[in-house]
Amino acid sequence: MEIITTTSEMRRLRAALPGSVAFVPTMGFLHEGHLALMREGLRRCDHLVVSIFVNPTQFGPGEDIEKYPRDPEGDAQKCRELGCDFLFTPTVDQIYSPDHSTVISVKGLGNTLCGSSRPGHFDGVTTVVTKFFSILSPDVAVFGQKDYQQLAIVRRMVRDLNLPVEIADIPTVREHDGLAMSSRNRYLDDEQRAQATVISRALLTAHRAYQGESLRKPSALIERARAIIEADSEGRIDYLQLVDPHTMFPVVQAPGEEDGALLATAVFFDGTRLIDNIRLDQPLPKALLGARSVACQS
Ligand code: PAF
Repeated sequence: MEIITTTSEMRRLRAALPGSVAFVPTMGFLHEGHLALMREGLRRCDHLVVSIFVNPTQFGPGEDIEKYPRDPEGDAQKCRELGCDFLFTPTVDQIYSPDHSTVISVKGLGNTLCGSSRPGHFDGVTTVVTKFFSILSPDVAVFGQKDYQQLAIVRRMVRDLNLPVEIADIPTVREHDGLAMSSRNRYLDDEQRAQATVISRALLTAHRAYQGESLRKPSALIERARAIIEADSEGRIDYLQLVDPHTMFPVVQAPGEEDGALLATAVFFDGTRLIDNIRLDQPLPKALLGARSVACQS
């Protein structure tokens, strides 16, 4: 595996690659969730390029860019072991000129959930992802369902701009007790880490109500989930919403058979903001089946 730090070199090497190329964009501090994205890339394509870039334009003022966890050697080792061809780790000035003035913005889908809590965040994501697509011309790019809104926005952008890349996705990878894997989990102290399982338990409870009791009233489903988070943790809910997975807009009436229903949440544990989601209208994901038995034992 080669580590590439300049845009010109990355372009040159990519152009020389025979066969298909999968791309996994990351901000580093790689965990099993990232490795699953990479495995999916390798399953689909002949070559894999991974980027590590803590993208300044997707962080708002006062957010955690300065303390965002980093582990360049550990990350390189993981990519190497997994069979990645190139690890692209550009510096900020390789990606953004000092007077850069072009922003890619997808309207509508980013107005709710993380988009309203973190103004400008998705413009930063779509701008940097477009830049990477331009540098790497991947055949396939792989994203995780944990960032469901991000995935929907990137898909819309690719469609609207006729970009020649297929967007693939994989289910959220979880710890054994259900907590969605995230680089930010490492900010949690032991007590917060134990409490953070309320998030997946809350989603599971709403899923059980939707599938098992046929509960459809959005406010009632949200209340079931909220009650778990509020009773069993000191987490502060940033948002907890039932949205249409195609538009990301809140569902106000009981969803019909052919409508989707995505329950999405962001919860703060002190300064650490964790996100998670579940499709209530779909079967329970495998990773949550395991968590359900852990929750029952405790
Ligand atoms: O999901 C992330 O880690 C980031 O938003 C991404 C896609 C790497 C863009 O910076």
